[in-house]
Amino acid sequence: MRYDADALARHFADGPGDISLADVDMARLPSHISIIMDGNGRWAEARGMERPYGHMAGVDSLRETITTCVRLGIDVLSAYAFSTENWKRPQREVDMLMHLFATTLVNELPLFVQENVRLVFLGDLEALPRETREVFEEGLAKTASHTGMVLALAVNYGSRAEIARACRLVAADVAAGVLDPGSVDESAVAGRLYTAGLPDPELLIRTSGELRLSNFLLWQLAYAEFYVTPVLWPDFDRWELLRAIASFQGRERRFGGVVRG
Ligand code: IPE
Ligand code: IPE
Ligand code: MG
Repeated sequence: MRYDADALARHFADGPGDISLADVDMARLPSHISIIMDGNGRWAEARGMERPYGHMAGVDSLRETITTCVRLGIDVLSAYAFSTENWKRPQREVDMLMHLFATTLVNELPLFVQENVRLVFLGDLEALPRETREVFEEGLAKTASHTGMVLALAVNYGSRAEIARACRLVAADVAAGVLDPGSVDESAVAGRLYTAGLPDPELLIRTSGELRLSNFLLWQLAYAEFYVTPVLWPDFDRWELLRAIASFQGRERRFGGVVRG
């Protein structure tokens, strides 16, 4: 995707010193960056605050990351906001998060319109509270014609649930006689995932140091490069994103083949 070099230079002015825009090769950016936004609760607790304050601070990190990815010309940014397992949290925290998702989307929609961002959701929205679902549907409708970066928000998302759903859709098409069982291949499955039509993530970032996937994009991350940072999500900023991209660009990606030499 194209980018505005001047706007980008302004966005990355006054860096911390150890990293700058010159450290990344703009011709080799990952087309899809995926983020497990983790550590909000610990960020708040470390400040003697309740966990919800961490989630609220995390919204600022997501906004900065979206703006940065738009400036860089990234094609797809996906972000894990709420897992199918997160319903196990205290009801108060779940309610707070659902309300935060709704108010955040209302507040950020003008930014998505201004930046030509197309919003998609990964996950089962049916199970969300009505307020949240309605705001999400409005966000989808208002950005559907946008041609810029795709922002894929994973809400009530679980990779196993997603793959099971794809199996149900395949089975239904087979039962209806529109799909031959012998022709069910990788693209038949991929085309029935929530990410249908999107490229696989090339770079997966997880904040807060946890070395696990927590049921995120198990199929799609097959050949992604992982970048785990101890930085907690509310402290994640444009410079940490640059560090992740620079690290990605230093990797040797083989896809099961041999090193070219
Ligand atoms: C990530 O932060 C946000 C969500 C999962 C909604 P956490 O709430 O998991 O924060 P920690 O991991 O407990 O610090
Ligand atoms: C993963 O974080 C889910 C999101 C970031 C939305 P969790 O905090 O729920 O993951 P675990 O429980 O540490 O594996
Ligand atoms: Mg966590």
